[in-house]
Amino acid sequence: MRILLLSRNAALYSTSRLVLAGRARGHDVDVVDPLEIQIVVARGEPSLSCAGHRLPHYHAVIPRIGASITRYGLAVLDELQRGRRAVLSGAAAIALSRDKVRSLAVLSRGRIRVPATVCLRSASAVDTALTLVGGPPVVIKLQHGTQGVGTMIAESSRASHAAVETFCAMGQEIVLQQYVSESEGRDIRAVVVGGKVVAAMRRQAPDGEFRSNLHRGGSAESVDLPRRYRSCALKAAKLTGLDVSGVDMLETRDGPVVIELNSSPGLEGIETATGIDVATPIITLAEELVQTAQRSKRKPGRRRQAAGHRRAK
Ligand SMILES: Nc1ncnc2c1ncn2[C@@H]1O[C@H](COP(=O)(O)OP(=O)(O)O)[C@@H](O)[C@H]1O
Ligand SMILES: [Mg+2]
Repeated sequence: MRILLLSRNAALYSTSRLVLAGRARGHDVDVVDPLEIQIVVARGEPSLSCAGHRLPHYHAVIPRIGASITRYGLAVLDELQRGRRAVLSGAAAIALSRDKVRSLAVLSRGRIRVPATVCLRSASAVDTALTLVGGPPVVIKLQHGTQGVGTMIAESSRASHAAVETFCAMGQEIVLQQYVSESEGRDIRAVVVGGKVVAAMRRQAPDGEFRSNLHRGGSAESVDLPRRYRSCALKAAKLTGLDVSGVDMLETRDGPVVIELNSSPGLEGIETATGIDVATPIITLAEELVQTAQRSKRKPGRRRQAAGHRRAK
C-alpha cells in the first residue's frame, strides 16, 4: 500500500524509522513536508497539491506534525482524512492533545487522575488559581508548550505573579498546575498504538531540574508497566481518540496522574531505552485501519445493491 508520512524532515530519527519499517513490510512510503502541501479551494471538493501536482492517492497517512506548525499541519490533515484514507491519528484528536487544559478536562471527566489545573489569560486571577491548586510551589506552563519549554516551578506567590504577568504580557495562555512533588523529577512515558501499550520507559530529570523531558537532558530506562499504569495509559489514549500517543504519567502513592498526551511521540528515546521496535506496530496499525476502511467501503455498496433488489421486487 501507499503511505504518506507527514513530516518536516526525512532525516529525523522517528521519520526515518517509520520509513524503514514501512518499506520492510513492502509498502511505498513517501515523506512529505505538510508545509509543502497546498489546500486548493475553488469549487466543490477542495484538492491538495504538492510541487505543482495534485497529491497522489495514499491509502494511509501517518502525521508527525510538530507543535510549531500545528495550525497548517492540521488543516492539511483534515482535508486528507476526508478522502477515505486511513489516518493515524485524526486532526481533532491531535488538536485536543495540543491543548493542555482541554485534554486534561477530557481525561478528568473520564475519571482519570490529573493534577489540579487552572487556565489563565490574565494575572488578576493568580491568587484564586493558587488557592484552587493548593498553593505554591506550583507548576506554570504555556498552554501550548512542548518539550519542556516554558514549563517552570514557581516556589512562591510572588514568583507565580511575576511569571504569569510576563507570560500574559507576551499574549500567552498559561496553565497553573498543582506541583506533584512525589514524582521527584520522574515520569513514565507509555507509547500506545491502536489500543496496545507497545513500550514504556521511566524518565528521570537531571539534578536540579524537575522536568524529565529527554530534550531537557533527562535520562530514560525501560520499565515494566504496573497494571494500573497500563490501563490508565490505554484509557487516556482512548478518551482523547489518538491512534498513536505518548502518555506521560507521574507516579504517586495513589497511582498514576496523567500530565499530557503527545500525538507524535519521539521514537529515538523510547526505542533506545527499551530496545523495542515501536515503528513497526505503527505501520501494522496503518495496515489494519486500511483493511477496516476497505471493508466498510465495500459494505455500503452491498447494502445499496440489496436496497435496489428490495425496490425492484
Ligand atoms: N504538575 C507537575 N508536577 C510535577 N512535575 C511535572 C508537572 N507537570 C510537568 N512536570 C514535569 O515537567 C515535564 C514537562 O511537562 P509537560 O506538562 O509534559 O510539558 P511539555 O509539553 O513541555 O513536555 C514533565 O515531563 C514532568 O517531568
Ligand atoms: Mg511532556
